[in-house]
Amino acid sequence: MQTFIENMPKAELHVHLEGTLEPELSFELAQRNGIDIPYRTPEEMIQAYDFHDLPSFLKIYYAAMAVLQKEQDFYQLTWQYLKKAQSQKTLYVELFFDPQAHTSRGVSFDTVITGIRRAQEQARVELGVESQLIMCFLRDMDADSAWEHLQLVKPYRDWIVGVGLDSDEKDNPPIKFERVFREARGMGLKLTMHCDVNQKNTLAHIGQCLDEIGVDRIDHGVNSLEDERLWRSIRDKGLGLTVCPVSNRFVVQSLTSGEIRQMLANGMKATINSDDPAYFRAYLNENLLELQAEGDFTRDEIATLVANAFEVSWLPEERKRHYLTQLNQYLTAVAA
Ligand code: ADE
Ligand code: ZN
Repeated sequence: MQTFIENMPKAELHVHLEGTLEPELSFELAQRNGIDIPYRTPEEMIQAYDFHDLPSFLKIYYAAMAVLQKEQDFYQLTWQYLKKAQSQKTLYVELFFDPQAHTSRGVSFDTVITGIRRAQEQARVELGVESQLIMCFLRDMDADSAWEHLQLVKPYRDWIVGVGLDSDEKDNPPIKFERVFREARGMGLKLTMHCDVNQKNTLAHIGQCLDEIGVDRIDHGVNSLEDERLWRSIRDKGLGLTVCPVSNRFVVQSLTSGEIRQMLANGMKATINSDDPAYFRAYLNENLLELQAEGDFTRDEIATLVANAFEVSWLPEERKRHYLTQLNQYLTAVAA
């Protein structure tokens, strides 16, 4: 099962670029940029990763971004992640980034997006790893700030495939960003939003995503199973759910294998993802391996979860076919 998962061609649809900042790279960038880190070693930094809910994670996640200052830093961060993806046979990635977490520290939008883009282009050519960017708005900031960042991305419209919504969900419902997402839709962008596990008013938030925003995908969305109208609507619209098992374990003490199996049984397009792999110490392969062990998933179930990711990706149909053919060839070869 381990080699079956490790060698399988895969796609990842829910990974925050800033969540791939490994402690070693933090130290390197801190030294280069003359920034103090409140830990003596990378190991000590990892020791401080004591997450039990979304706010306790976000506090450490945003503080660590201080080392990201220059175009080269964003390039290096992105390049390092895409190299890791290649080493895990993750051939296609949709990468979230959080520009407001940088512009609010005085780093320009152009610095952030040009550094990321340079690494994406290089990875496509040199590593054979294809990626697209999703610009996330921080939901605990106001809608005007999100609107301003949507204006900032207009010169780079073709560098992003969609917009998302992340950060602290408490009292920050999807509807707060209705106008911003309507404008993004008008720009031809795809729409997704986080509905993190066990958040206050989660069912109302999932309902707003479906009925008022009209999202193309939902990030996490595990609680939708609690409401038959919601999960049937997700299934009937064919919406993908980007579930992140190891990330969820910090909140619900389980990899949600039972829920993921239920999604498959319901005909919902569940996919497996890493979320913030440098913090949760698990990239895509580790998420699939741990999930498989907890839920005793079969090879067929794992293959379905991986195929779902290509199917609900925001690739053109012909690229989806290309990757699904590659996956099917792999499955045929290992079955022989
Ligand atoms: N930002 C980075 N990871 C996140 C998550 N899982 N939920 C909300 N915001 C995030
Ligand atoms: Zn996330």
